[in-house]
Amino acid sequence: MKILLFLVSIFLSQFILSAGEFNCGSIKCDNYEADVSDKASLQRGLSTYMNYCYGCHSLKYSRYKRVAEDLLIPIEMYENNLIYDDSKIGDLMEISLSKSDAINWLGAYPPDLTLEARLRRPDWIYTYLRNYYPDSSRPYGVNNRVYQNVNMPHVLEDMQNSLTKLEYDRVIYDLTNFMTYVADPSAEQRKRVGTYVLLFLVIFTAFAYMTYREFKKDLK
Ligand code: HEC
Repeated sequence: MKILLFLVSIFLSQFILSAGEFNCGSIKCDNYEADVSDKASLQRGLSTYMNYCYGCHSLKYSRYKRVAEDLLIPIEMYENNLIYDDSKIGDLMEISLSKSDAINWLGAYPPDLTLEARLRRPDWIYTYLRNYYPDSSRPYGVNNRVYQNVNMPHVLEDMQNSLTKLEYDRVIYDLTNFMTYVADPSAEQRKRVGTYVLLFLVIFTAFAYMTYREFKKDLK
């Protein structure tokens, strides 16, 4: 009986915990399902990231070359279009913004975002970037429903105003997809290898069983 109660409480605690997980500040997170096998989406997300986020947020646990290779972007094209300083293709994706300048200008240091999708979850990022709203009491005239009183300006405001809601959501989908990839760049390879391992185990089990039957015959 005690064991039964224990199992039921574990089962129920899953719901309680997961209900909390989907909280995005003052609102509920929107549904977000990443697809890191969609290279075109990752390439679009990378381009948005490099143009709108990389000035403030480094990706210092990642290297340009790795991203280029994983996203199937020719090295030369990557070097010419997506590296803005004198970094080399093999370098870590670091930026030159100093801590004191950032705190002077922005009031906070923009954190490195390499692992942000693991720290916050992709649905949090997706909801965050789509929930800025006008608020004249804040320094930039905007506030955020997911991250109240955030010190980050709404860097995509012009883009949001010039696109339809659907188009803007698509841009943020791709950007979040890229951030999901960069937080765990081997995820896709792991899944592929996992399938082969399971396949191998099934075949191996079949052979092991056949061997077992042969041995059993001799034992009689
Ligand atoms: C002008 C500099 C600047 C730019 C450009 C910028 N951010 Fe930020 N961002 C910040 C600052 C500063 C913070 C810290 C806010 C705080 O602590 O109040 C921040 C915080 C964040 C956070 C929350 C981090 C956390 O978990 O606390 C995310 C996510 C984020 N930025 C994503 C982005 C994305 C995606 C882009 C590009 C579309 C971007 N930022 C562009 C300055 C910037």
